[in-house]
Amino acid sequence: MAQSSITSKHTLHSIFIEANVKLIFSNDLILFKGATKKFQDQLDQMNVQYPDSYVTGSLCFSIDAWKKVTHISVPSDLKSVNTLSFLPNANQRDFFIHISSDRFDVAFQLTQDTIKNFGNTIRIEQEVHGFRRIESRDLSGFIDGTGNPQTDVDRENTTLIPQGQPHENGSYVFAQRWIHHLENWEQQSVQYQQDTIGKVKKDSGFIPPANRPANSHVSRVGIVENGTRLKILRQSLPYGLASGEKGLFFVAFTNKFHNIEVMLKSMFGKTDGKQDLILRFTVPSSGSIYYAPSKEELYNL
Ligand code: HEM
Repeated sequence: MAQSSITSKHTLHSIFIEANVKLIFSNDLILFKGATKKFQDQLDQMNVQYPDSYVTGSLCFSIDAWKKVTHISVPSDLKSVNTLSFLPNANQRDFFIHISSDRFDVAFQLTQDTIKNFGNTIRIEQEVHGFRRIESRDLSGFIDGTGNPQTDVDRENTTLIPQGQPHENGSYVFAQRWIHHLENWEQQSVQYQQDTIGKVKKDSGFIPPANRPANSHVSRVGIVENGTRLKILRQSLPYGLASGEKGLFFVAFTNKFHNIEVMLKSMFGKTDGKQDLILRFTVPSSGSIYYAPSKEELYNL
């Protein structure tokens, strides 16, 4: 079975934790593996205790961390973000804890207990609390997620390594914190903003490719390769302070990391020299590639 936050539809709140793994003392690996089991057990128990919370979670590993904690083979698409040298401010971390829930209190409790269970075997590098905004709008004002695969089958086919293949039900993850600079953006006309994103602001309506700039966001990431549209499942959420730094914590799952890599290359001018107009108002401040093993793999690390 796949870890539960990958295809989750219930994401009013998410807590995103990125950490480095520190295995120093001889029993640290045992402690670490024990904490991964406790995480899964607590998730199951909380879903019974708080059924209205729809709490889901995944533990995800960088290539280095995977090699450190298990002898299971390295999934073929897993690599360090350092190989994507064109990405600004990308800095590969070891470990990603992704917890989502319709109840913040439940998500918070699970995160706090999980961090305690991992103890000194991890050092937290980044913690971000995401929330769903009114009408699922990003802080740019545009509805986010409408282009995502919607049905359960489509979400699974997009994200999970197929049954029968090595690492079945595992998934590749890309996590990237973006910081928005909205002062100038909010002064701009709706036309300018729609040209930037490539969608209708009011209702996320479709704008034909001929009527939007080739460097609008949707034109950059809506990629067809050999007749097939590249798909990913985005589980991003806005975060930040009303009075301070804010942005989007971008998270996407896929069963072919290639799909995300091609989109990133297109956004950052590596395919045809055109940069995504989204960079007018937002910049990445981190970026890491992870692998979310299936529940069975996680139990048998
Ligand atoms: C679509 C926002 C970063 C991939 C969209 C849409 C918005 C949006 C408003 C249109 C609504 C929708 O289809 O969901 C943002 C913001 C970003 C960001 C604010 C960063 C701050 C990224 C990144 C990727 C990406 C880094 C890929 C690596 C996509 C895809 C679509 C999309 C695949 C659907 C395109 C289609 O329908 O053909 N994004 N996005 N986005 N975005 Fe982003």
